[in-house]
Amino acid sequence: KGLKRILAAALCVAVVAGMSGCTSSVTGGKRIIRISHAQSETHPEHLGLLRFKEYVEENLGDKYEVQIFPNELLGSAQKAIELTQTGAIDFVVAGTANLETFADVYEVFSMPYLFTSEEAYHEVMNDTDYMNQVYASTDEAGFRVLTWYNAGTRNFYATKPIHTPDDLKGLKIRVQQSPASVNMAKAFGAAASPMSFGEVYTAIQQGVIDGAENNELALTNNKHGEVAKYFSYNKHQMVPDMLIGNLKFLNSLSDEEREVFEEAARLSTEVELEEWDVQVEEAKKIAKDDMGVEFIDVDIQQFKDKVAGVQDEMLKENPDIQDLYDHIQEINAKYVDKEAE
Ligand code: GCU
Repeated sequence: KGLKRILAAALCVAVVAGMSGCTSSVTGGKRIIRISHAQSETHPEHLGLLRFKEYVEENLGDKYEVQIFPNELLGSAQKAIELTQTGAIDFVVAGTANLETFADVYEVFSMPYLFTSEEAYHEVMNDTDYMNQVYASTDEAGFRVLTWYNAGTRNFYATKPIHTPDDLKGLKIRVQQSPASVNMAKAFGAAASPMSFGEVYTAIQQGVIDGAENNELALTNNKHGEVAKYFSYNKHQMVPDMLIGNLKFLNSLSDEEREVFEEAARLSTEVELEEWDVQVEEAKKIAKDDMGVEFIDVDIQQFKDKVAGVQDEMLKENPDIQDLYDHIQEINAKYVDKEAE
């Protein structure tokens, strides 16, 4: 862990120093493209990004070399977004919670029980024409989303079993570093403890927090199942991860090059989505059989009731989410109707 920190710091200095010299990110005549993400090298996002790298280098390999930095090696999501903003690195993968401070439209994804089915979630995110309007919302901040990755459904997990919202009372639960995430945990009756993803394992292990909320891969890929043995399927959120690019870099590309990067992004999502479905199933097995995690089926309605007022409160406080919210409700309705048929 200590070594990782030193390595990360050294790399960071090297990356940032390299960019302030600007041209030194060109090695051997090639422009180095740096991508940062928070997951391990077996995670669906890493595999998706390898496809991104492959496609870019297949088509523009004489000009660009893509380097992927996993495991928060270049810093936590928030730090890495800042590096992408300034152009110290070119791309980062981050969840929408981390984007809320740059464009408040992204708060919508932090609403508990926003999507009423996975089908609706996927349809909304795959509607590139609509989402491109949303993706342009961070242009002023100097970066733009290129594509989305599935990060599954988020659920509470802790060192104690959670069966009902009452069980959350008094529990210290780690949430992502965003106001909407903090509010959500509070609405559930938990004590919210915002921190970066990389800090969660140690915080649970040392008893600083009682648990967190995330998808199944957090148990295995990030090893949280070693320290938190109860995972409750209350399914409060489906929050996408985003591939974000430095806008100056994207705008510096020729039309043909931009086309290649866009297609690389699309292909990376294709790989990521397929891998996601496979790996979630694997993660459940590993967590249960090898790590001794207990998966708890809860009465989801009780959790929904507990936070029933949150969507309206958020809409009142942040008019910027209304449009996307209405759009999502239309798509939700399509699938609810289907179920009723
Ligand atoms: C998931 C998600 C990340 C996010 C993390 C977190 O792993 O894919 O983007 O940062 O949860 O809870 O911080």
